[in-house]
Amino acid sequence: MRDLFDADPGRFERFSLECGPIFLDYSKNRITEDTLRLLTELAESVDLADWMLRMRRGDHINVSENRAVLHTALRNRGNEPVLVDGQDVMPAVREVLQKMRRFSESVRQGEWLGFTGQRITDIVNIGIGGSDLGPMLVARALRPYGSVGIRTHFVSNVDGGHLSETLVKLDPATTLFVVTSKSFTTPETLLNATSARSWLVRRLGSEAAVARHFVAVSTNTQAVTAFGIDPAHMFEFWDWVGGRYSLWSAVGLTVAIQIGMDHFEAMLAGAHEMDQHFFSQPFERNIPVLLALLGIWYNTCFGAHTHAVIPYDQSLARLPAHLQQLDMESNGKRVTRDGFTLDFDTGPVIWGEAGVNCQHAFFQLLHQGTRLIPADFIVPMKTLYPLGNHHDILIANCLAQTQALMRGKSEQEARQELAAQGLSGEALAQLLPHKVFPGNQPSNTIMLDKMTPHALGSLIAMYEHKVFVQGVIWGLNSFDQWGVEYGKQLAQRIIPQLADEVDTHEHDASTRGLIARYRRLGHG
Ligand code: F6P
Repeated sequence: MRDLFDADPGRFERFSLECGPIFLDYSKNRITEDTLRLLTELAESVDLADWMLRMRRGDHINVSENRAVLHTALRNRGNEPVLVDGQDVMPAVREVLQKMRRFSESVRQGEWLGFTGQRITDIVNIGIGGSDLGPMLVARALRPYGSVGIRTHFVSNVDGGHLSETLVKLDPATTLFVVTSKSFTTPETLLNATSARSWLVRRLGSEAAVARHFVAVSTNTQAVTAFGIDPAHMFEFWDWVGGRYSLWSAVGLTVAIQIGMDHFEAMLAGAHEMDQHFFSQPFERNIPVLLALLGIWYNTCFGAHTHAVIPYDQSLARLPAHLQQLDMESNGKRVTRDGFTLDFDTGPVIWGEAGVNCQHAFFQLLHQGTRLIPADFIVPMKTLYPLGNHHDILIANCLAQTQALMRGKSEQEARQELAAQGLSGEALAQLLPHKVFPGNQPSNTIMLDKMTPHALGSLIAMYEHKVFVQGVIWGLNSFDQWGVEYGKQLAQRIIPQLADEVDTHEHDASTRGLIARYRRLGHG
């Protein structure tokens, strides 16, 4: 890459793109124009444009679940209809957005009161996976846009510590629980919701309190009603919205209450802007398509197994976790959509951590380890937290890391540096190999204007489309997640066996031994 930069002073301009608040510099990649031409030919060879059209027009591209994939409809700001099985879904989408607006405003204005007549001050989202990670990321990133009197909390883990630690800080009289579950059958979520309800009823002394302190977000009216939540307090979404793509639906209700519906809709508008870019731009000028192709270039052609996501922004600390679900649940597949076993690698391991902290944790391996690790660096140009020169230092670190990864430090440069420090002879020779950086490590730098609802919407939508494009190129159905089911089934079998002397011979010796040990020494 060093040579490519030296040979072409226009490389930055040539390999950078803009869409609204998003600026992508992809010049620090192992690519030439020829590489890009070949990669876009690859995209053409799998009929990517046709797959994009099929998604957009509501075809059932989630073949194993026989469903359309239309999270883009949730943020459609235009007037055109979006058809699913011949029916325009836009009126229902707008109706739920209106219902979210009315409800979130009534909570924020103190019109929606708790059972004892007090204002709501704390919202607890109970959900897991896509019903947790997206809203949690956004709530954290957009906290400065929040209402002063309202705090949000996210409880996902069935580990009782998660709920207990949250409740201990809360007053039931001023707490609203938003039970968020597409299926409303996820055991972790239902158990957390049940325990939260017991806490509330015990503390407020009446079952009638539930109606003022519990609302639900789901596709499953029957299960919501069976749980004891009035369907009038249920916010609907639809089976054509995948869990990890559901942030834009009523799953964002907690966020909407926190930041207000105008900001929530600004986030939808940012995502819609990215959708329009994605659906209209030629592949070689299309940000999600390029990111996808670059990922495939390293994954398939260089054998890179992982992809790092490094936000230089503390408020995006949960972005790697959200993208883990988005990418790994979507493209962690080993058969094609037609069921044929693949003989090449598909979705990479996604991982990461906020910079600069990660520099002091895992960057050593990026700089001098043996593996190729492509990375995305995400950084806002303006900060929402002006504090002395903190932001300049943050930016300088981000730029320095991508530069160091790209340039490395040659043996000759390291030698000169050591000599300038007064070293020579054997002392210099001994230290020299430790001071050499091979470089040539690829990265994308994604600059946001500023952390706004609009920019965040564009950023997340960008990654959604990247994942979709990669799935198309690998021939996958990116919208099911059967792999998650098996462990869930086994857990249901084991639960009763922990409590009773039930026969456990169906299990392997390890699982049997661990159950026996837990029966003897464990339990809460
Ligand atoms: O992890 C599997 C999964 O089905 C995810 O796809 C989903 O986001 C999560 O569980 C939660 O599901 P639900 O919203 O139905 O509770």
